Amino acid sequence: MTPPKIFISRLIPSRGLDLVKEHFPTLEIWPHEMPPTCEQLLEKVHGVDGLLCTLTEKVDAELMDAAGPQLKIISSMSVGVDHIDIVAATARGIPIGNTPGVLTDATADMAFALLLSVARRVMEGEKYIRAGKWKTWHPQLLLGADLVGSTLGIVGFGRIGQAVAKRAQGFDMCVIFYDPTADSVHGAQSVGLDELLHESDFVSLHVPLIPNTKRMVNADFLSKMKPNAILVNTARGGVVDQSALYDALKSNQIFSAALDVTDPEPLPMDSPLLTLENCLIVPHLGSASQRTRDLMSLLAAENLVAGLKGERLPNCVNPEVYSR
Ligand code: DGY
Repeated sequence: MTPPKIFISRLIPSRGLDLVKEHFPTLEIWPHEMPPTCEQLLEKVHGVDGLLCTLTEKVDAELMDAAGPQLKIISSMSVGVDHIDIVAATARGIPIGNTPGVLTDATADMAFALLLSVARRVMEGEKYIRAGKWKTWHPQLLLGADLVGSTLGIVGFGRIGQAVAKRAQGFDMCVIFYDPTADSVHGAQSVGLDELLHESDFVSLHVPLIPNTKRMVNADFLSKMKPNAILVNTARGGVVDQSALYDALKSNQIFSAALDVTDPEPLPMDSPLLTLENCLIVPHLGSASQRTRDLMSLLAAENLVAGLKGERLPNCVNPEVYSR
């Protein structure tokens, strides 16, 4: 029997790679640090049975057709799948695998790391020292915001939102959330979006990027936030209208923002957001711990192997392909 043709589009951790090789020793992996361009990817997927990709690859109908009708599985080493055209894959009967659960804690930790950093102005303090400005302890130097007794508003109360709420409990914060589909856990109270924006000292975003959430943080959203409020985004850059955010930060309509994700990624160096002192930006590091990335690669590999063997994926985004 001819072995399946497999393309892995990034240098994923060996934990996942080894599992794929155990089952299917002949695979092709993109060896470069930079991801393949659209043209390179179109060429590489030609004739593949299985594709393992990451969030840097756009997987649309054109790519699926370029692969061909034998394509059995698209496995993404990510929980978010906004880079994949799910409707197109489902129409072609292709299951899509993702990696939920294993990155929940790492991403919640990052949301909290950002929240604390901006609340207590860690990056500004660091820059201040390196600029040679630290001459004395000063009673009014770089005063930030307290967490104890403050209100954290979580928008999107899935696994990661709930893990953020759990951490906030330990800081004696009052937690409210907006998510019409979620139940209350960790002492968090469900509220409407407007109430959340009016009440929260911190707003942390944990929604997937779907048509309903695209640019949901717009000028109207920001205008309802408190002037001392801090916005934290570890979800997807596309959830925020960055030009409206720039205006709100520049005019001190809100206190500050911390972004793990931007639109586009990487953020162009001429982005106005990079000129602001009250905006902390890191390069999409939410799941970037060694253990988490190992586990993500393993889940992605398990999905790929299952799909190639014609088995149900352990984590399938479009299970309706199985009832066709
Ligand atoms: C995901 O898996 O969707 C994350 O954004 C990666 O950090």
